[in-house]
Amino acid sequence: MTERSLVLIKPDGFARGLTGAVLERIERKGYRLAALSVLTPTREMLAEHYAEHDGKPFYEPLVAFMSSGPVTAVVIEGEQCIAGFRSLAGATDPTKAAPGSIRGDFGRDWGNPVQENIVHGSDSPQSAAREIAIWFPGLG
Ligand code: CMP
Repeated sequence: MTERSLVLIKPDGFARGLTGAVLERIERKGYRLAALSVLTPTREMLAEHYAEHDGKPFYEPLVAFMSSGPVTAVVIEGEQCIAGFRSLAGATDPTKAAPGSIRGDFGRDWGNPVQENIVHGSDSPQSAAREIAIWFPGLG
């Protein structure tokens, strides 16, 4: 089924100049870019986006990190792109992410309370719809 997913190139990926490399991998995989925006997210947006993590020990550092600088928000489109992008991204912990994946090739542990793992990808069709509405309120 053709799906949409929300991908974020997080402040660490943006600051390291990895936006182009991540977009290239998405396009080489065959997914289309349906929307793209560079912005520094507000704490309010992030509270919505990360509502399920509220109360966890890494929640406050995560919101502080994610609002620390620009991110590239992208809506991607394609057959099975939700699971497909998560596979491209690799495991959440960049130390464990397989070589060949975005996090496996570009990420490592920086010793911070948050895993600065370069990208985010929606984990289900429900999350994708919810997250796309937060980051791209105008997109139908
Ligand atoms: P993301 O896919 O954006 O969703 C939640 C984020 O929280 C995750 O990527 C990581 O950046 C971070 N995160 C998830 N689990 C942990 C953890 N156990 N310790 C620190 N940070 C985490």
